[in-house]
This record gives sequence, C-alpha cells and structure tokens, in this order.
Amino acid sequence: MCGIIGYVGELQDAARVVLNGLKKLEYRGYDSWGIAVIPSGSTAVSIEKHIGHISGAETMLPKGSLAIGHTRWATHGGVTEANAHPHVSCGGDIIVVHNGIIENFQELRDELSQHTFLSQTDTEVIPHLMEEYGKIPLEQAVSKALQRVKGSYAILVFSTREPEKMIAVRKESPLVIGLSSNGFFAASDAVPFLEYTTKAVDLDDGEMAVITRHHVEYYDIPSMAKKEKQQKKITWTAEAASKGDNAHYMIKEILEQPSALRNAVVQDKQKLTAFAKEVMNAKNLKLVACGTSRHAAIIGRYLFTKLGKKPADVYIASEFSYFADSSDADTVILAVSQSGETADVLDGLRKAKGKGARILSIVNVMGSTIDRMSDITLYLNCGPEVGVASTKAFLNQLAVFYLVAYTMAGKTEEGAKQIKDAAHVVEESIKLNNEKMKMLAQTIKKFEHVYFLARGVNFPIAIEGALKLKEISYVHAEGMPAGELKHGTLALIEKGTPVILINPTDYTYSDSLSNGMETKARGAFLIGLSNQINPVYDFFIQLPTPSNELLYPLVATVPLQLLAYYTACEKGLNPDKPRNLAKSVTVK
Ligand code: M6R
Repeated sequence: MCGIIGYVGELQDAARVVLNGLKKLEYRGYDSWGIAVIPSGSTAVSIEKHIGHISGAETMLPKGSLAIGHTRWATHGGVTEANAHPHVSCGGDIIVVHNGIIENFQELRDELSQHTFLSQTDTEVIPHLMEEYGKIPLEQAVSKALQRVKGSYAILVFSTREPEKMIAVRKESPLVIGLSSNGFFAASDAVPFLEYTTKAVDLDDGEMAVITRHHVEYYDIPSMAKKEKQQKKITWTAEAASKGDNAHYMIKEILEQPSALRNAVVQDKQKLTAFAKEVMNAKNLKLVACGTSRHAAIIGRYLFTKLGKKPADVYIASEFSYFADSSDADTVILAVSQSGETADVLDGLRKAKGKGARILSIVNVMGSTIDRMSDITLYLNCGPEVGVASTKAFLNQLAVFYLVAYTMAGKTEEGAKQIKDAAHVVEESIKLNNEKMKMLAQTIKKFEHVYFLARGVNFPIAIEGALKLKEISYVHAEGMPAGELKHGTLALIEKGTPVILINPTDYTYSDSLSNGMETKARGAFLIGLSNQINPVYDFFIQLPTPSNELLYPLVATVPLQLLAYYTACEKGLNPDKPRNLAKSVTVK
C-alpha cells in the first residue's frame, strides 16, 4: 500500500521528476518517502529519505537521468528513516523500491544472516538476495531472486554497475509503464506521469520491463522469454488529477459530482446489456467489495431486488475468501472497487475464479487488476479520485448500479434519464447545504460519538455517512438500520448525543421517523435529513426532491460528505490524508 515511481530518460533532473510523481502518489501512503538517483557522470548512487508528508518537500539530490522513489504506508517495521525505501545491498550497488508484502521475508533474512540489514522491512531482503547471485546481468539477478520470493510485489530496481537500466516487475501489485518522447516511467498508477504522456503499457503478473533511455523490453519471469505488449491510451488528464484552486482534493471531488454523474451514464450499450443479462441469469449472485464500495454494493442489492426482482448477497471482501470455495460455474461475482486494486477483493476473486465463477466488475481505474480479471467491466467514468475518502466514486458506483438495474428491467433509457436528472438535484443539494454543513461541523467537532440511522435503500447512506465522518475527522460514528437501534445501541443515547436521521419522504419515512423520536425521547440532538421539515428535528438538513424516490441515496450522501469534510477542517485535520489510512489498500 505504497506508491512507487521510476524514471529513466532524456530529462536531466530525474530526482525532481520522481519527487513530483511521488507527490501525486502520496495518497497511496504518506508515512515517509525516499528517492535514489544516479548522478550524471557518476556510477555511485545518491539517496535521500524522510519521515512525514512529501507534499511541500524539496530534494537536495543531484541531477541525473535515472531515479526511483517510494512513498510509504508502513507494514513491516515502524515509521523510521531506516525503514523508508529505497533499500540497498551490502555493496550499495543494488537499489530497490517495493510495494507489496514479501511473505517469506523472515526465512530469507535468516538465510542471509551474513548480510548487514539496516531496516526492519520485508523489502530489504530483495537487494541482499540479488547480491547473492554475483555480478550477473541485473535482469537475471532480479528473475533469480523473485523465484525465491513469496508474496505480492511491484518492484523497481537499478544497479550502479549498469547505471542506465531500470527493471520493473510485478506480481499482484499494480505497475504501469509510461512511454514519453523524453523517456520512460514505471509507476503504481498513471497519475504521476500524466503531464508527460498518456501512452502506457500495463505490466501483468509475472512480467518484467527492462527500461533504458531509449527502449523498453518486456519479458516473462522466470523463462525470460521476450514478449510484445499492447500500448494503451489513458483518457485521464493531468488537470483532472490536480486539485486546482481547491484547498483539498476531497472538496474538489465532492463539488465535481454533478459532472461526474453525467459521465457515469456514458456506457457502452452492448456491454451494459450483457452485464445486466449476466446479473439477471446468475444462479448465485455475490457482490464483493470493501469500505465505501461495499456500501454502494448494498444499495446495488436493493436496486437489483426492487427493479430486477433479482436477489443477491453482499460480502465484505476480506471475509469473502472464507466463502469463496462455495463458488462454481453457476456463480457470478460482481466486484465493486474504485481503484480496482484492493487486495481483499482480488483475493476473493482469484479464489472464486479458480472455482469457475464468472467475474463482473464496476471499477474506476481502467486497466487495473480487477478490470483485467473481469469477464465484463463497467467503468465509473468519474476521473481520478485522489482524496483518501471516496466521494465521487461512490456516487458514480450508485449511478452504474441504477443503470444496470434499469437495464435488467428493460428500461435503460429511463435509467439514464433519471441519473441525468439526479445530477441537477445533486448540484442543488450542494448549493443548499455547503454553508449549512460548515455550521453544523462546528457542533459535531465537539462530540466523541455520532449515530447515523436510516432504513431500506437509504440504510447504506447511514453507514457511509458514519464511515466518512470517522475516517477523516476521527469522531467515532456508527451507522445502522434505524430499526436495529432498539436492539442495543439505544442504550448509548443520552442528553445531547447527535443522531443523524436520513429520512426522505419515501417508503421508509414514517418508520424511520418513529425511530428518530425514540432517540429524541432519550435526549438525543436529532438532526433530520429530509425533503420535508418536521418539528421533531433539532437541526434540519434540506434535501431536494429527485424525480424518483430510489434516487434519494444520491442526494442524501452529499451533505454527509460535506459534514465530514468540514468537521475535519474545523479540527485542523487534513481530510486528504487521514492518519493510518491509504487510498489504495493493496495488502490483505
Ligand atoms: O478502491 P476500492 O473502492 O476497492 O477501495 C475500498 C475501500 O478501501 C475504500 O472505499 C475506503 O473505505 C475509503 N477510504 C472510504 O472513504
């Protein structure tokens, strides 16, 4: 769950190219960072490592045309300079950055006991292991070392003995090669090289790219058979991946939701129909996702049942692995993921695929591992999402679920129209609530616990609202089906406890209102989110009315995202970089 980037080419300041790239990858990890460069005309390496955020950082590293860098989210070993990457061999000539986990690192480390280890990381075994093979060509040393390594990795390596060559390899961790007229990049995703090029090649598991100033060659590991790879054009722009004049990515991404929603509707019709048909015909339909994407999947289940009369199960991906064995050729797995790289989702998919299941997915990142594993993928089309808290991806996941559900009911055009209408209503919801949520944040920041309640199709918005609030403002928040409250949680409600009731005037209205009243009777400070005011609310959040009551989740999500954002800001926290979290969770 780290970000890596390497560059080799004509640009003479590779270290700064890599530093700027790391700043764009920081959402993948921000405990510490480091860069290694071969200075021009030298065969020695210069390395810089730092603890903390990279955003405002400069580097003192000399100029050179090859550099690799890493931004870390600690797994093995604490947050120290020694544990920051790059890591080097005893001789100092082999330099490595790594994203992933080396599962057998302890065994290898014991075996390499005559080597001097400077960190507690799993990664450090790689340069030492390579050193064991003596002075053979770098690509051979990498290939041999990887035959000993168990686990997942995206690795960049160079050696001072071959100072114009960078090796990139991957297994179960993302790595994409960028091809520009000024040189080549290898990075965890395309965002850090978008300002140089939109031409890219996805590296697959078990592949190696050997990159020099003027060439990239691809090989299979361990056979080292040369292979041809397909080039792709990335549709994202550097501008879409920048935060512009906004204070944070998160607010930029919240505000661009209306236009993102309009893009969600632009789907390949044939694929959409085929996708809906597979969902409809599946004997066993299992929706698998984590975090916010799982909340979208729960709404998807409501929509499939309501519009397509199709039941489905929703699994937390990290738990799904324990059920994956029951999958078979009659099973359709529908994976939902913004990044398309979440390790827990991938693990379940691999197991289910191994049992013959069909894989459908709804993802944002084209060419991601989940996308490439899938029989059919529908894309979110919301552009790059950088803020750790998922916002626009969530709304677009909902939009894609609506489209699929309407297509299942034979009403694709109607579904598309509803989503376009919803984009206006979401715009209105932002206008109505932006200032109001700033105000409410001043109250919410003072509390340790907040409860979110809703029913039916709105229930996932309660858990999503709670997740947003806790992950970026560190206020403990719990979301639940309103009816479940009286089975335990009601005991925690006391005078002044904030309770947020998501209560549009749809089929859930009166039952949810009764549950809100039950909390109010115990002293709760009741915050109502509805299109209709009610005197029972101590604070009212106005929702505009969408064209169809099933669209309330889209409208109700927005004020809760804003509330979480402003609460974090009020507390002086950076909403884009919540402590201990990273955007793309590529470890189990
Ligand atoms: O990339 P994915 O959608 O698979 O990521 C899943 C979760 O890690 C993600 O939604 C996480 O819960 C967010 N930080 C929530 O805002």
